[in-house]
Amino acid sequence: MCGIVGYIGTEQAAPILLDGLDKLEYRGYDSAGMAVYDGEKLQYAKARGRLKILRELTHDGAKLPGVCGIGHTRWATHGVPSDKNAHPHFNEAESIAVVHNGIIENYLKLKKMLAGKGYKFASETDTEVIAHLLDYYYKGDPMEAITKMMHRVEGSYALGILFRDHPGELYAVRKDSPLIAGRSAHGCLIASDVPAILKYTRDVYFIQNEEIVRMTDQELAFFTIDQDPIEKQATTIEWDVSAAEKAGYEHFMLKEIYEQPRAVLDTLNPRIREDRIEIEELGMTDEEIRAVKRLYIVACGSAYHTGVTAKYVFEGLARIPVEVDLASEFRYRNPILDEGTMVIVVSQSGETADTLAALRMAKEAGVRVLGIVNVVGSSIAREADNVMYTWAGPEIAVATTKAYSTQLIAEYLLAMRFAKARGTVTEEELAGMLLDLRRLPQQIELLLDHKEKLQRFANRYVAAKDVFFIGRGLDYAISLEGSLKLKEISYIHSEAYAAGELKHGTISLIEDGTLVAAVLTQEDLYKKTISNMVEVKTRGAFLLAVTNEGNTAVEKAADYVIYIPQTNKYFTNSLAVIPLQLFGYYVALGKGCDVDKPRNLAKSVTVE
Ligand code: F6R
Repeated sequence: MCGIVGYIGTEQAAPILLDGLDKLEYRGYDSAGMAVYDGEKLQYAKARGRLKILRELTHDGAKLPGVCGIGHTRWATHGVPSDKNAHPHFNEAESIAVVHNGIIENYLKLKKMLAGKGYKFASETDTEVIAHLLDYYYKGDPMEAITKMMHRVEGSYALGILFRDHPGELYAVRKDSPLIAGRSAHGCLIASDVPAILKYTRDVYFIQNEEIVRMTDQELAFFTIDQDPIEKQATTIEWDVSAAEKAGYEHFMLKEIYEQPRAVLDTLNPRIREDRIEIEELGMTDEEIRAVKRLYIVACGSAYHTGVTAKYVFEGLARIPVEVDLASEFRYRNPILDEGTMVIVVSQSGETADTLAALRMAKEAGVRVLGIVNVVGSSIAREADNVMYTWAGPEIAVATTKAYSTQLIAEYLLAMRFAKARGTVTEEELAGMLLDLRRLPQQIELLLDHKEKLQRFANRYVAAKDVFFIGRGLDYAISLEGSLKLKEISYIHSEAYAAGELKHGTISLIEDGTLVAAVLTQEDLYKKTISNMVEVKTRGAFLLAVTNEGNTAVEKAADYVIYIPQTNKYFTNSLAVIPLQLFGYYVALGKGCDVDKPRNLAKSVTVE
């Protein structure tokens, strides 16, 4: 996720761009840059680090004079955060400047094609291919170059584009990444999100997929990919700026919960090629995969919970022994790290001290380490032998939601890749699983549609003292996450138990009305878990069940049932987590807690 802005008008562009970028920094903040047409050339400045560095570098924009420009705040995807990888990117003659939010999936292929034609690349980004591709197609008509480029690139993009030789124009296009445009008394603007331009206009045009915007200082025109003009109606924005930064959501956590379908898709797409899984960044041949005899998955908190899920998936699918470890335990327990061992560390921030220490320990023992990481260029990403990025985008709420969901996806893909190499699943089974994976974003969206139902239910539990989450197998793994989500933001004590274990002590805590949330997504274990539900029900518990559509038998034991759509048995956690996240969120909201910044917690735990 990155943020883009653009301005053309009668005012100085750079201060307006800096102002807009400031409102978009929530989308990424590892580097920033601007390009402004100074009457002769496209002048630019870019810098690694927060926006304030770009401000200082340009003396608050004064060093980039001109009335037309584009700007970018970056959250690195391809290429580490650095001055060189910061946007804007240019063609060699620096006559075309581009800022980009999104991921160009076929950039390697395009890069190869362009390199073959003599194009030289100055960065490691996917974006740079767009600047060169526009150069390749540009024969004096920007619209022609842009539409030809759009036909060649695959993936998602919102782009701001300047052509030095068309100084009175600014172009923007969109596919699967947000883009808006607006007109003020002093010019026209584009941005990734409303708050960036709200100071200048409340009338906003929402750009749809494969639409092109052409702006001059007075005119805002919209076109299809076939260059046909489009009539567009502006929408008047009623929210204030601070609410709009959360895109209208009350909290970042809710916004991030809603971003999960997109995050899941972004993590899946680059690894699926023509119905095959390709994880280039794993850097392992089939033979090397087969040589792995044991896997350790090491992480903390929610990332550890995804590891618990992954253990069931890897063992079930790839028939390889997996140990899941809390990083803080792993690093001090002298684990057996011999030949044939591989370690997978999982981390959203890529900076968690214990996980980083576990990685270093494994590397010192000479064991291959794969990092599943969300923040590009973070310590874990830099130090792991190989990195598989989760494309969740920046996560701001302290309680993880979308990073958790994308970690699951990365682990499913890996387990399937291992299973294929080890010959433990058939091509047919893998094809069926891929279909189910691709359905997940839509199914998550369906579950999100029921948020009001969850809110009403959650409101009944704002005064709860204890809550228990129970499940067996994969359902135990999701219970761990459901319980953590609730307690960390609502401060209600909760525990997750393997459903069969409760009666070995903890059942003594069940009182009249205690909420027990049972998760039942594994068909072969339905009956067993229902028996455990009955055990607590007869002791007074109120039973919430989260189960697969069609499992109506659960209604005999449960007081309240939430159904999730059918999917492959290994992927159910990706769906069951949605109502559990919403439940935690709405209980905390009902209690008036600081949802995004719960007490005593930090987003990145860099101490052990
Ligand atoms: C809980 C949560 C934490 C993190 C844990 C690991 O909602 O966010 O439990 O999962 O602190 O952090 P990362 O993934 O950054 O290593």
